[in-house]
Amino acid sequence: MKKLKFPENFDWGTASSGPQSEGSQDKPHESLWDYWYKNDKERFYQNVGPKITCDSYNRYKEDIKIMAELGLKSFRTSIQWTRLIKNLETGEPDPKAVEFYNNYINEMLENGIEPVMNLFHFDTPIELEQKYGGFKSKKVTELYVKFAKTAFELFGDRVKRWITFNEPVAHTKGAYLYNFIYPAELSTKSFAQASYNILLAHAGACKVYKSLQLSGEIGIVLDLLPPIPRSARSADKYAARVADLFFNMIFMDPCVNGQYDDEYLEILEKHDCMFDILPGEKELIKENTVDFIGINYYQPQRVNAPKYAPNVNAPFTPNWYFDDYEMPNRRMNVYRGWEIYPKSIYDIAMRVKNEFGNIKWFISENGMGVQNEERFINKDGMIEDDYRIEFIKEHLEWLHKAMEEGSNCQGYHLWTFVDNWSWTNAYKNRYGYVSLDLKTRNRTIKKSGYWIKKVIEENGFEP
Ligand code: NOJ
Repeated sequence: MKKLKFPENFDWGTASSGPQSEGSQDKPHESLWDYWYKNDKERFYQNVGPKITCDSYNRYKEDIKIMAELGLKSFRTSIQWTRLIKNLETGEPDPKAVEFYNNYINEMLENGIEPVMNLFHFDTPIELEQKYGGFKSKKVTELYVKFAKTAFELFGDRVKRWITFNEPVAHTKGAYLYNFIYPAELSTKSFAQASYNILLAHAGACKVYKSLQLSGEIGIVLDLLPPIPRSARSADKYAARVADLFFNMIFMDPCVNGQYDDEYLEILEKHDCMFDILPGEKELIKENTVDFIGINYYQPQRVNAPKYAPNVNAPFTPNWYFDDYEMPNRRMNVYRGWEIYPKSIYDIAMRVKNEFGNIKWFISENGMGVQNEERFINKDGMIEDDYRIEFIKEHLEWLHKAMEEGSNCQGYHLWTFVDNWSWTNAYKNRYGYVSLDLKTRNRTIKKSGYWIKKVIEENGFEP
């Protein structure tokens, strides 16, 4: 078969996040996760919390050495708000954290790895949740922009690619519709308001970044889940449209095109869930669209028209649309339970091209979670994750096709680098190129790590 070649300078990278890899020692504040774990351990798989994670706070040099060995070109992680900022009201940084992030970033650069820094990975400081109600309040929007400004000023001379938020809608769904993120409230109104306030925080950060005239770019990472109706019935098609507006376009439209789709706002109005807009905010959003988009893709959403009356507080919840009745003929990841459907990566890529001005974008996350992955360790201690290689290959093939057809994709980042702590699932599902021994915290490159090394060297592979 013909070898697939990628463009020169294609960004072969990988991603993680601060709260999932650094561990929480030495932070001046607790995030909502630190707090939630302390107060409700039962929610967390095997009662394991975020205290140590990969211990990258102490072992980041080891991580970066492995990245360099694999030939990876970039690494996305996040700066923890709760670590960097000492005074949450003023945005004053903590000196120890400044030293840590300086060392971390410099170490990446010295090893030829481009740091891609994200400023929010579901980790609001708990004080801001408790005092103001988190992103339901515009006060927190304001404080986030102060934090972002501090980060740009401290590290913007070396960090050239900034992300304001990772998967903002996963955050607001989790917090206000899904019972997955603190405060686990059920309310579409809160979901809509917090999502809007995060959009304002994002736009505010973009504005500040541009005003500082640093020579870099700023974007956002969105989880786009292509909604596929479960049947050709018009009710199912409409449900897919609503799911797309609420859980994809809610950020994609305003971040790239500068405004919401009217239909989203009309639905909110109709159900009395509209958020508060203050003078000047529309302009802020319009004038501060992104330089690029990162897209996280794992699986599509199979949507059907709801079969029962919605909760009065939450007329639009993902659960309501995606009730999990058996859907035959789907290919599932037997090791974790999510669907495997690589063609959606192509559909996303073509949608970016055709509906979003072919803006510059990259796959900021894609990957395969596996439970009990130790069962695949060979006699030399390496995990033979051929299923993951197959998964990545299939997704890259579809991505390559879209790029040949003109989609402006600049790179591919696997989630994740070293197996990390994944919120309430803790270490249940392993995703990395590199495995983590939970007793010793030792890292061992998996077969997929060696495979990607070769792909990067050859800038392509044989399908
Ligand atoms: C997306 C999120 O950004 C990340 O934090 C999470 O661990 C992965 N998905 C896997 O579920």
